[in-house]
Amino acid sequence: MTKNQKTEELKKILIIGSGGRENSIAWALSKNQSIEQIYVCPGNGGTANFKKCICLKPKSEEAQTIIEESQLLGINLVIIGPEVPLSEGLADKMREAGLTVFGPGKDGAQLEASKEWSKDLMIENNIPTAQYWSAKSKEEALEILRRFNQPLVVKADGLAAGKGVTVCETIEESKEAIKDIFSGKFGSAGNKVILEEKIEGPEVSIFALCDGERLIVLPPAQDHKRLLNGDNGPNTGGMGAYAPALLINEQDLQDLTELVLTPTLKGLKKKNINYIGVIYAGLMLTSSGPKVIEFNCRFGDPECQALMPLMGEELASVLFACAQGQIENAPKLTFNSECSACIVAASKGYPESPQKGDKVEIDVESNSSLQIFHAGTTIDKFDNIITSGGRVLSVVAQGESFDKAFNLAYSNLKKINFNGMHFREDIGYQVRDI
Ligand code: AMP
Ligand code: GLY
Repeated sequence: MTKNQKTEELKKILIIGSGGRENSIAWALSKNQSIEQIYVCPGNGGTANFKKCICLKPKSEEAQTIIEESQLLGINLVIIGPEVPLSEGLADKMREAGLTVFGPGKDGAQLEASKEWSKDLMIENNIPTAQYWSAKSKEEALEILRRFNQPLVVKADGLAAGKGVTVCETIEESKEAIKDIFSGKFGSAGNKVILEEKIEGPEVSIFALCDGERLIVLPPAQDHKRLLNGDNGPNTGGMGAYAPALLINEQDLQDLTELVLTPTLKGLKKKNINYIGVIYAGLMLTSSGPKVIEFNCRFGDPECQALMPLMGEELASVLFACAQGQIENAPKLTFNSECSACIVAASKGYPESPQKGDKVEIDVESNSSLQIFHAGTTIDKFDNIITSGGRVLSVVAQGESFDKAFNLAYSNLKKINFNGMHFREDIGYQVRDI
C-alpha cells in the first residue's frame, strides 16, 4: 500500500475523552484536509467549535456500545486520550473488534497504572530514576521509613487522578501520607505504596509517538503542577504549560531519547508488549543527571494543548501509521518552530471540590495562533456554556518568543469569565520576563 492510499483512507476519527487534551487533539487533526469527520466521545462544550468536530454520545458507556457505534460510523482511527480507559483495556477490546487504535493495551498502560511495575521496568532497563521501596502494608511502609530515617516521597501504586503523590518535608509527613493511603484515601490504588528518595531539580516532560517498534520524539514541554503562583499550593492535574521547553536543547533531547525513551520501548518489547501510543516521561534534571519521576501512557494534559498547535498537519497520518504499526508509511512529522503557551482557567474549589454549573462567557474565537481549548464545560438547553469540572478551559497562544506567546494568551484570557475563575499569573516564568 502506498503512502497516499493510506492518507486517503483516513477519513473518520474517534477520540475518546472529554478534556482539554482531547479538544486540542481534535483541533489539530481537523487541520488535515483529507479528514472528513472527527467524533469526540463524550467530548465537551467546546468540541463542536472546531470544523468537522462533533460530540459522540453513545447509548451507554459500555466498551461494546462504543465499539458498535464506531463500526456503524465507519471510524478508521480511534485515539484514546485518558489513562483510565487505557488501563481498563479499551484499546485491546477495540483492536479485537477490528478497529485501528492509537493507545496502548492494558499491558502497556501499566507504565502509568502501576508505579511499582514502571519502577521495575526502569531498573530492568537501566533507566535512571529515584531509589525506591514498595510496601503492601502500613507496617511494612513505616518500617522502611524508620530504617531510612529521612522524609520519603509517598506514592499510591495505582491511578489516583494525579493526587496519589505526597512530597514530604518531614518524617512525620511521610508517616501521615502512608497512613492516609492505607486507610483507603485512594481506594484500591493505595493497596500498595511506593516510597521514594526525594530528588531535586527542574522538571521537564518528554514524549514519543510509538508504533510498537519505533518512535518519533516530540518537542519537550514543561507543566506547572502546583495550584498557585510561585509553585505553591497543592498539586493539580496541571495549571499551564509551554513548549518547547528550553531547559533541554536538541542534543539533550537526543541523549534523553537514548537514555530513557528507546530503552523503555525496548523494555516493553522484551515483555512482549506491542506498545502503540504515547510514552510520556516526566523527568527531573538533578545535579547527578536526569531521572524519571513518572511515566504516563498518554499525552499530558495541559502539555498536549501547548504541543498540538506546533504539529504539522501530517499528525493525523502519523498517528494512523503508528496505530497500524507502520510508522515508516507516514509522512515526516513537521513542527512549527514557534513558542507555544498554555494557561489553564480553573473553577472555584479546584482541585479539592470544584464548583460546577456556572455560566462561562467567552468573547474570543480560536484562530491559527490563538486557541481556546475547552475541558470541564458542557452546553445547557439554552445553548449556554456551563462549567462542569475543575479545569474549565485553557487559552493557548503561539508567537516568535515566549514573551509574545504568553502576552497574547494572558490578554485573551481577560475576554473569558465565569464565577470563581482562577488561573496562575506566572505560567512560563522560566522562559519569559515577568
Ligand atoms: P507524579 O504524580 O508522579 O507526577 O508526581 C507529582 C509531582 O511530585 C512531580 O511532578 C514532582 O514534582 C513530585 N515528585 C514525584 N516524585 C518525586 C521524587 N522522588 N522526589 C521529589 N519530587 C517528586
Ligand atoms: N500534566 C500532567 C499529566 O498529564 O499527567
